[in-house]
Amino acid sequence: MGLHARIDTAVTRAIARGRAGPAPARLSEALDYACTPGGARIRPTILLSVAMACGDDRPGLSDAAAAALELIHCASLVHDDLPCFDDAALRRGKPSVHRAYSQPLAVLAGDSLIVLAFDVLARASGDAPDRAIQLVSLLARQTGMPHGICAGQGWESEDQIDLSAYHRSKTGALFIAATQMGAVAAGQEAEPWYELGARIGEAFQVADDLRDALYDESALGKPAGQDDLHGRPNAVTQLGVHGAVSRLKDILSGAIASIPACPGEAQLAQMVTMYADRLTPSADIVRARA
Ligand code: IPE
Ligand code: IPE
Ligand code: MG
Ligand code: MG
Repeated sequence: MGLHARIDTAVTRAIARGRAGPAPARLSEALDYACTPGGARIRPTILLSVAMACGDDRPGLSDAAAAALELIHCASLVHDDLPCFDDAALRRGKPSVHRAYSQPLAVLAGDSLIVLAFDVLARASGDAPDRAIQLVSLLARQTGMPHGICAGQGWESEDQIDLSAYHRSKTGALFIAATQMGAVAAGQEAEPWYELGARIGEAFQVADDLRDALYDESALGKPAGQDDLHGRPNAVTQLGVHGAVSRLKDILSGAIASIPACPGEAQLAQMVTMYADRLTPSADIVRARA
């Protein structure tokens, strides 16, 4: 099975668990709506790529880790789009969850997905409970306070933003979770994989700033120009379009250089290179908008 099929199957199975039995029908539907068909699924793709580079000797656990991480990501987007955060009407080319189902159901759908993510990990512990416990802890660390995505969103309510802590928590956290959880699911240490996740996260933030500035709503499937609108610090205002593109390239070559020694090191480097190409805006777009 290819990576995308593995991820889709694992996410679908997780959502089905969250919807099993007699349950409030609209909230049940909102869980599915928030996660399928899904976006780029980049975090679980990185997670499984790292697990495979490390031997992937417990594929069931890796799949559960990939699904858990994607559920947290989807939950974070549901909450991020709410009127009390970014007030976004569109996500992945369709109405955001609160627009489609109501604000109470969006709050509850996000909450339910977060809880479900940890349940998925607990249930996948099987014959590797030590790994599952580590996965729970890694995912919790990158989701909550003081370093996770909750902290990242929390910085937006401060008068003074610590920019590197803000970006590391808001965007970097789930990429750090991706590389570390991939390694741990395959029986390796988490720590050596921190740097790769952090660097990919940093690159992703710069790429996202570029996309926000260069593309329109129909290309993004979500509102564009949000950084300007909300007055958020971003790489394009700091460095200009060309400066941001060359910063992106620097970070990605650093990411490749930081891949820890493992059996699948070469394939993993290839994957990051491919991903780098996808993240970099085309020369035409840069020329037209710079
Ligand atoms: C969007 O993430 C949120 C950010 C951290 C910028 P993605 O661009 O990975 O969203 P999807 O899952 O592909 O829609
Ligand atoms: C979303 O960040 C990040 C999290 C929910 C943790 P943004 O608000 O910058 O991303 P988009 O533009 O809505 O996808
Ligand atoms: Mg936001
Ligand atoms: Mg947003």
